[in-house]
Amino acid sequence: MENEIRVGRVPARHEVEGEALLVVDDLRTSFAVAAGSVKAVDGVSFELYRGHTMGVVGESGSGKTVLSRSVMGLNTSANATTTGSVLYAGDQMIGKSSKEKKILWGAEMAMVFQDPMTSLNPVVTIGRQLTEHVRYHLDMGKKEANEVAVALLQSVHIPEAEKRLDNYPHQMSGGMRQRVCIAIALACGPRMLFADEPTTALDVTVQHQILNLLAEQQRDRAMAMILVTHDLGVVAGRTDDIMVMYAGKAVEKAPTGELFAHLRHPYTQGLLWSIPKVTQAKHTRLNAIPGRPPNLIDPPSGCKFAPRCAYAQDICRVEEPTLRSIDTPDHVFACHFPVGTPEGEEAFARNVASDYPPALAAVGKLRASEEVVG
Ligand SMILES: Nc1ncnc2c1ncn2[C@@H]1O[C@H](COP(=O)(O)OP(=O)(O)O)[C@@H](O)[C@H]1O
Ligand SMILES: [Mg+2]
Repeated sequence: MENEIRVGRVPARHEVEGEALLVVDDLRTSFAVAAGSVKAVDGVSFELYRGHTMGVVGESGSGKTVLSRSVMGLNTSANATTTGSVLYAGDQMIGKSSKEKKILWGAEMAMVFQDPMTSLNPVVTIGRQLTEHVRYHLDMGKKEANEVAVALLQSVHIPEAEKRLDNYPHQMSGGMRQRVCIAIALACGPRMLFADEPTTALDVTVQHQILNLLAEQQRDRAMAMILVTHDLGVVAGRTDDIMVMYAGKAVEKAPTGELFAHLRHPYTQGLLWSIPKVTQAKHTRLNAIPGRPPNLIDPPSGCKFAPRCAYAQDICRVEEPTLRSIDTPDHVFACHFPVGTPEGEEAFARNVASDYPPALAAVGKLRASEEVVG
């Protein structure tokens, strides 16, 4: 293992470009439960380049966390089965032993979780949690590890870092705790960082600070980052690419600017409508997508989004659409009647005309967004 701390290290250009750092192909993870098999991740493929950021967006339960854990090899529960291919720097992750994976965790790929309280040990000081991690991976003496710990806390903008080493997690605010988690994740200079809803538990101002901190660290270290969120607003302007997930599948993938300019999947449109607007009055009802995500044990046939989709036609309930593109090859989506196309607009108009409930909800909801509730 490299005995080097990559704090502030800027990689050479050839490290940033070139071949993908992560190549995921047809990844599937299912959980055996009494009622059957929960297909949490159902054939997801993507590539991530060094120094690039990908946003993974979808409602709660769409498989984002299971995807992240499957890529890292963290799905170790006895009822989980993962198949497919995860090449990290050309090395196959699927089938690696825990011992082999432990060497990679922290040093190569690290993870920041939603709730900093559950990833920090409540009875161990911040200082010890940081230094133990550094010493385990970098084989350092106590004094040296302490210095690294202080430097790391400073790099995530924690004031009076030295004093903070003696703090227990409960003595810090939620935002500060998340900064500590980020410092721990960054301690060994990973080349790839998974941030799984890193700001969901925080209030809005702190959310922005943490997202900016992640962006700054990602840039300074030219790390690849996967930013997982249920909020399309979080990834706007913060990622190179976006992958939208629904019911364990990628339903739309595109460079971020392209996605916002020409979104094609009605589900992505629903997510966009669900973003709270700064200009909206408080307590304004959000344009949540009607209905619920499908049962992953026995999902509906055809497109899994069809029962909630304002554009759905008969074929959608029978034939599952596969990923395709129209004019931009790196923008793919799985939909028979894409948003912004003549066939899509026709399908939507037909559904509104025939009082198809999700289509009426979509029209009605546009009005609801201006309506103040409570
Ligand atoms: N250990 C498990 N056993 C059974 N089902 C699970 C397990 N872990 C996750 N799931 C199911 O997998 C689906 C995807 O979960 P998850 O990846 O956590 O969603 P997200 O992170 O997008 O909110 C959910 O339906 C969830 O209930
Ligand atoms: Mg999750």
